Amino acid sequence: ETIVKKIDNKDIDKLYQDEDIRLAADIIKSGGLVAFPTETVYGLGADAFMEEAAKKIYAAKGRPSDNPLIVHISEIREVDDIAECIPDIFYSLAKKYWPGPMTVVLKKRNIVPDATSGGLDTVAVRLPDNNIARAIIKESGVPIAAPSANTSGRPSPTKAIHVLEDMNGKIDMIIDGGTVGIGVESTIIDLTSDIPTLLRPGAVTLEMLENTCKRVDVDPAIEHLLTGNEVPKAPGMKYKHYAPKADMKLVRGNESDVLKYLKGQIQNSDRLIAVLTVDEHKDMFDTVSSEKLNIKVLSLGSSKNPESIAYNLFDILRKCDELGVEYIFSESFDERGIGKAIMNRLKKAAGFEIIDV
Ligand code: TXA
Ligand code: MG
Repeated sequence: ETIVKKIDNKDIDKLYQDEDIRLAADIIKSGGLVAFPTETVYGLGADAFMEEAAKKIYAAKGRPSDNPLIVHISEIREVDDIAECIPDIFYSLAKKYWPGPMTVVLKKRNIVPDATSGGLDTVAVRLPDNNIARAIIKESGVPIAAPSANTSGRPSPTKAIHVLEDMNGKIDMIIDGGTVGIGVESTIIDLTSDIPTLLRPGAVTLEMLENTCKRVDVDPAIEHLLTGNEVPKAPGMKYKHYAPKADMKLVRGNESDVLKYLKGQIQNSDRLIAVLTVDEHKDMFDTVSSEKLNIKVLSLGSSKNPESIAYNLFDILRKCDELGVEYIFSESFDERGIGKAIMNRLKKAAGFEIIDV
């Protein structure tokens, strides 16, 4: 009974008159759930001020309730409705990167229910750069709490079909606005400590943030598996995430060593294995993959265009599930720029299992 409606991502003025946008807003206002596109991934939206609606999100996703939601707004000034004690650095960042793939963590106002903030006294806020998303928020007249619209633990959805796979029958409506632009979730930066702290890397890169803030700390949960008493600042970063069903390993080292290692792994195996590589290297596996039907060689994109790799990443991980592969070996990438987000998602998908060759 999930309603699916296709909408062109057109002029925002035209979207206001769109009856499907109105229907989506009516569902949100009455406490229901609507999945919609943003520029990063598809989100699963509900009224951020309605405790019961936020709870429905956790149920539909199968998400632990201590993992807070991001509150989406349609104008910068709406941030004052949900957050207080806002530092100056927020305005510098918002001016540069909003609307866009950046989420800021601020001190929350009491109006934000615990169900939305996961019981924290802070709230994550984002102004998405997608006309459909902003039109729904505006028409609803409330900020919209929206995590990624996947079942908890599965790769985030970059296409409406991914949302349908995970959410059909569990939510009221899916707005199909085509594929998203970026393909990995927003950058999260915590502005509640003296030094802004990067909690999740995304398309607003660490280098870009450092351009605006004097100094940026990086939460250790981004880089490695936390041990013992280390606690991640973004609760979501502690879960094994984006995980395909297969046992995945990341292979890291210089190019020729990595390729040699990958070929060695697949040559003598009868298991169903996926190798995640790049356009430039795909040919090198042709002989093996044409002889052995148990080897699937998938390109994440061009190594010359890391944005293409970010864009394809979650779709390829979902493809691995569809193919039923048992093992995934993936190449590694340079961690500069958007590479940091790519490597963070790959590391999480691999449960931080990295083979250094
Ligand atoms: O690009 C995105 O951000 C997408 C689209 C839909 O906007 N949304 C998204 O939401 O990725 P979600 O729920 O999948 O990820 C939200 C992350 C989680 O890791 C959560 O722990 C963290 O944000 N988070 C939310 N509120 C927080 C807070 N107050 N402090 C620290 N981390 C927070
Ligand atoms: Mg998510």
